[in-house]
Amino acid sequence: MRSGRNTRLVPKEAAAPETEPSSRPRTKVARLRRPPLPTRATVPSPFSPIDDYLRQLHQQLSALGDGRVASYIPELTKADPRHFGIAIATVDGRVYEVGDARERFTIQSISKPLVYGAALEDRGVERVRRAVGVEPSGEAFNSISLEPGTGRPMNPMINAGAIAMSSLVAGDGREARRARVLAAISAYAGRELDVDEAVFESERSTGHRNRAIGHLLRNYEIIGDDPDEALDLYFRQCAVRVDCRDLAWIGATLANGGTHPVTGRQAVRREFVGSILSVMATCGVYDFSGEWTDRVGLPAKSGVGGGIVAVLPGQLGIGVYSPALDERGNSVRGVRACEALSQDLGLHGLQPPRASAATVRASYTLAAVRSKRRRPLAEERVLAEHGERVRVLELQGDLRFTTFEPVLHLISLLVQQAQQVQPAQSLVAVVLDFRRVTQVDRAATRLLVALIAQCTAREVSVALTRVRRGDLLASLDAEMDPRAAAALHFHPQLDLGLEACERELLRRAGLAPGLAAAQELPLAAHGLCHGAAAEDLVFLEPLLVRSHFEPGALLVHRGDPGDSIYLLLRGQVSVVVDLPGGGFKRLATLSAGMAFGELALITGGRRTADVRADTTVECATLDAGTFARLERERPALTILLLRNLLQGVGRMALQLTVEVAALEG
Ligand code: DON
Repeated sequence: MRSGRNTRLVPKEAAAPETEPSSRPRTKVARLRRPPLPTRATVPSPFSPIDDYLRQLHQQLSALGDGRVASYIPELTKADPRHFGIAIATVDGRVYEVGDARERFTIQSISKPLVYGAALEDRGVERVRRAVGVEPSGEAFNSISLEPGTGRPMNPMINAGAIAMSSLVAGDGREARRARVLAAISAYAGRELDVDEAVFESERSTGHRNRAIGHLLRNYEIIGDDPDEALDLYFRQCAVRVDCRDLAWIGATLANGGTHPVTGRQAVRREFVGSILSVMATCGVYDFSGEWTDRVGLPAKSGVGGGIVAVLPGQLGIGVYSPALDERGNSVRGVRACEALSQDLGLHGLQPPRASAATVRASYTLAAVRSKRRRPLAEERVLAEHGERVRVLELQGDLRFTTFEPVLHLISLLVQQAQQVQPAQSLVAVVLDFRRVTQVDRAATRLLVALIAQCTAREVSVALTRVRRGDLLASLDAEMDPRAAAALHFHPQLDLGLEACERELLRRAGLAPGLAAAQELPLAAHGLCHGAAAEDLVFLEPLLVRSHFEPGALLVHRGDPGDSIYLLLRGQVSVVVDLPGGGFKRLATLSAGMAFGELALITGGRRTADVRADTTVECATLDAGTFARLERERPALTILLLRNLLQGVGRMALQLTVEVAALEG
């Protein structure tokens, strides 16, 4: 059954609103003030071009004098048609406001999508769908658009559908259901809201058409119980008092997947947000929804109190308040403000976005960027020759189908091209670095799982760096067969992922990566002494100070005077610096045959990093005084030592040059 458009909102005799704004526009960027809920405060912008823009827009639209305040609920006629406020709240928790953004009014129909969300949460999609459809009625908000036969209202945004939703809110008794609805709307707004009892009473005592709708729904058994109870709840939810900023936060909470950006409190479960926004998009402004989508392009909801909330999913919410309404019951300035914001700020949701920033922010191979482990020459050579067989892709941004698809394409090309060239040149590993990845949705997680399986089948291993299983990849284990999940490599640092790939490369090249030698190296076999005459070594050996360190011991402290060179004869050490945010970064790992501490000796500076023993370590140290003596007494040996030192430093400098070029490119 369908009735035509009915109840006019504005009686002909209602006074035309004055055009002068009621107050000087004021703008302010502010944090949400709401003591009872926990807040994750964000810093307000001290000044912003957005304020200037909003001021101009407000001033321009304040001149609009069209429309009338709603009068079919007597109490609503008290609204001042000059009031006009605009607020924008972002999912990052910032809010911008102008004009009468703190003026309070009743939420009216803007409560409908929120109570629809509560019904979905309380009863599930199937039960809700039996009570209401999701088709736009193309008719006025108070139309009686019921499905022929079943009596099911067309959608939850018209009154019939909304009253049916109020009847589905769970709670033990009238009071509990009232509390449930008020708490839900408050959670969206991020502060405790209240009910305007005068408006509630006013609508309760005059809402005969809604009462008729309620009883019609009872007749069709869409409402199972006393329809007056559902109507009471519906009238109360419409009378919840909000301001313009609350509306912006309600929008931002929906934009943020159901969680308030500042309080962190979940107003509705994420899984229902898509359904809520869908009916807002198709039915939110009733018989104006098509034109609204064309001109504004944002899911929205209007209320006869004069409010409009609009949502740009994932980004922001807009709240506008101006009680003078057009014939369809939408705020005149509200519609115009949303249209201007959409156009001026490029917010139209259906305007194809520009391709987002590339997901791959850097792509290089192990030939260019290596782990911080220094390696003996034989290993160096293998890595230089085969480094191209490990590809590193540093990813950034949100990973979802559209952003991840090009990465999958790239990897498949790399794997295939490498295999086609020569099996000996085939790809050994792909490192995916997640440091700058902000989110991974389920689709991308599934694609990643499938990619790993496909790579593994082609003997290409995949290492994931700077991400933890539980983190961004929360659903990864659930998506993966447990054996494959167990075989997956996660590395807390990119450096460690690179080192693991180096080991794999060396293993495939038939070179067992240098294990810490059990035996101590003789001085003659140390890299620094390479090429030294036997008699020089006999002269040098007693001048060196021998020391022994247990695993974990510090050989060098940051800040110590740099007065000696360390010749590592057994074991392994790591040079590490503490990071400001906690944790540490490894600058190098060295093994027997290598030297460290040479730069400080030459420059005379202080130690800039700690050196820690990774294993049991035997060292020989050559201090500055001894070095000076060598210069005088054994100039040839000194030159040889310096040449060997310089060769090591030169190799490092070369590696850094290649690395910088690769990272810049
Ligand atoms: O059902 C009613 O009449 C009101 N309490 C709510 C209507 C409303 O806000 C329509 N939206 N523009």
